[in-house]
Order: sequence, then C-alpha cells, then structure tokens
Amino acid sequence: MNLFDVYPLNNIEIVKASGSKVWDANGQEYLDLYGGHAVISIGHTHPHYVKRLTDQLNKVGFYSNSVLIPLQVELAEKLGKVSGKTDFQLFLCNSGAEANENALKLASFYNGRKKVIAFKGAFHGRTSLAVSATDNPKIIAPVNETDNIIFLPHNDEAALANAFAEYGNEITAVIIEGIQGVGGIKEASVSFLQKIRSLCDQYNAVYIADSVQCGYGRTGKFYSHDYAGVDADIYTMAKGMGNGFPIGGISIAPKFKPWHGMLGTTFGGNHLACAAALAVLEIIEQDNLLKNAEEVGTYLINELKQIEGIKEVRGRGLMIGIELPESLQNVKKDLLFKYKIFTGEAKPNVIRLLPALNLTKDLADQFLNDFKTALKG
Ligand SMILES: Cc1ncc(COP(=O)(O)O)c(C=O)c1O
Repeated sequence: MNLFDVYPLNNIEIVKASGSKVWDANGQEYLDLYGGHAVISIGHTHPHYVKRLTDQLNKVGFYSNSVLIPLQVELAEKLGKVSGKTDFQLFLCNSGAEANENALKLASFYNGRKKVIAFKGAFHGRTSLAVSATDNPKIIAPVNETDNIIFLPHNDEAALANAFAEYGNEITAVIIEGIQGVGGIKEASVSFLQKIRSLCDQYNAVYIADSVQCGYGRTGKFYSHDYAGVDADIYTMAKGMGNGFPIGGISIAPKFKPWHGMLGTTFGGNHLACAAALAVLEIIEQDNLLKNAEEVGTYLINELKQIEGIKEVRGRGLMIGIELPESLQNVKKDLLFKYKIFTGEAKPNVIRLLPALNLTKDLADQFLNDFKTALKG
C-alpha cells in the first residue's frame, strides 16, 4: 500500500527534538520556528509533559465519554483560570476543524438559524462546514458547497453592518480568526471585533473566535481576540493545546445550555489527551509563557521592522508574518536548507514564524542574524 500523496514534503526526517531544536536522521540540528504548524507550544519533549503523559499511559490511556473522567474537570478548571473565562464551559474534541464544526453547530442549535458570516482570507479547517467557511474554493468539494456562508471583506465594518441589515435574523454566527494564519498573518482590528460583538448582540447571532492558531497564549494574551476587550461567545482551540498530542476544544459562554447528545465524540477528552493539555497549561502558567511570547515576539517584530528589503512585518507576540518581495522568493527554502531553520509560509510570499512560546531571546537573535544573511542571497 502507498501513502495517499497529498502533502508536498521536504526531504528531511526528524528523529529527535528538544525545546526549539530538532535533529534529522543525519544528526543535523535545526532551529524550529514553526512547531509543525504552530502546534509545539511549550517546546518539544518538555520533561514535565513527557512525564505527565508517561505516568498517565501507565495508569489508563483511554476510556470513552461514558464514564467519569476527572481529568476533564481538572482541565476545564485550569483552562477557565488560565484563559480568564472561569464561567465558560468546555467541550473537548480532537482537532481545529472539529472545534469549528462543533462551534458552528452549537450556534445553529442555539438560535435555530443557518447563515454564517466568514471573511476573505479565512481558514477554518477541512471538515464539511469548516471548509465551507474557508476562503479557498480549491479545497471545497462539491458536497461541501452551500449558500449558507456569506464571505465578507476582512476588517470592513460597513460591509458587516450591511450584511446584518440584509440577512439579520437569518445569521447564526460570525466566525473569525483573531489573526489570520494561513491567510498570511492578518490581524482583525480591535474596532472590527468590537463591531462583531455589538452586531451579534443586536441580532442574537453567535460570535465565534477561531483561536486554533492564534490562541493558547501565542500572542501574549490567551486568546488574541481578547485584545479587543470584548468576550466572544465561543472560542475554538486546538494546535498548541496538546503540544503535539491531538486535542481540540471549544470554550462556551454560560448562555449556551447543553442537552445530552447535543454534541459528542469517541476520542475527544480521553485520558491521555487531557494529561497532555494539562501539562501544557501547567507549563504555560508556571513559566509565565504568555509574558515570554509577548516580550520575545515584540522584540522580534521590532528588530524585523528595522531590516531593509522586507515588504511588511505583521503579527503579534510569537505569531509573525514577514512579507517579502517576489525577488526574494528563495529565502524560505534557503532558511531551511542552508541555515537549518524551520519556518512556515503563506501566500503571496510571506514567511510565518510560529515558534514555541518559550523561545529565548538568544534563539531569536540567532534567527535574526541568519535571516539578515539569507536576505543578501
Ligand atoms: C485558524 C485555523 N482554524 C482551524 C484550523 C484547522 O485545524 P486542524 O488542522 O487541526 O483541523 C487551522 C489549521 O491550520 C487554523 O489555522
């Protein structure tokens, strides 16, 4: 049997990882500023994480949501505390797409409506409704096509108000990333998020904050949407939540009332996943990683802004986009193959930095030096 060949792969096999470093099969060291799509939040193979998962595996790895799982309660309490939303409720699932799928479904159950407002440049995942709300026709299969999604220009308050004026009582939810990741590190403005909040209140629509990539402390606040100073109704999360162990979740405002069978999953919230997520939150709290993400991120952004030849530097904390002119298209590949640094990309020519939240200033400096040299060709 062959693998179903859907991924363009770099010819590198990672066999060892620690903190913000990984090593290939030839023993070559790399600086990891990408964390495998923003997943590594507390650093690779963090000793506390490894111990908590190993200990849990030696007790019980999995049982389904038909028995008491106190680790879920512990996780909900911890997440409520660290995210500052103690009165919210937690539903656990397995991925970012699934988190968004459940959030949209919950919104529709809540107000009985069908239409969803999403934005140009958005990426919300590849499952049915999540992919329909994703601005990329290439990955939307005919079976996922629906008239229920209204795509609006990003950060356009007038277009948003017009859409509500036109469709008002048909709109179930507005879904928005605090900072678009796949879309090229584009931040939703404070006033735009505030406008979403007030229009959702006015029309009884649900404000869904897709925090799958920009959340979990990456920008210096637990949810980047919180820079706007207003609460969303549902926050969706995954990526950094398990530091590589698959887990996703939605944090749900108190006004949503559950009923048995409303949402569900076989694997979501299993013992191992909860142990991984708890280990991550414990390290985030203990090592003050939100502060580190904010400080090292601000340092990197400010330093990058001084460098000549860059089109634009965008982002917040450790979610950074460096847009380069077309003439510097080779830089991303050079960083990986010449300078041994993993970064991400987005179109048109944007390098994405999504490192672990405990990236040190020394490693940030190492990147800056190599990046400056790489720009010279
Ligand atoms: C903002 C956002 N939402 C949702 C997803 C989907 O997450 P997953 O790949 O875990 O399904 C992603 C993945 O890149 C994302 O960046």
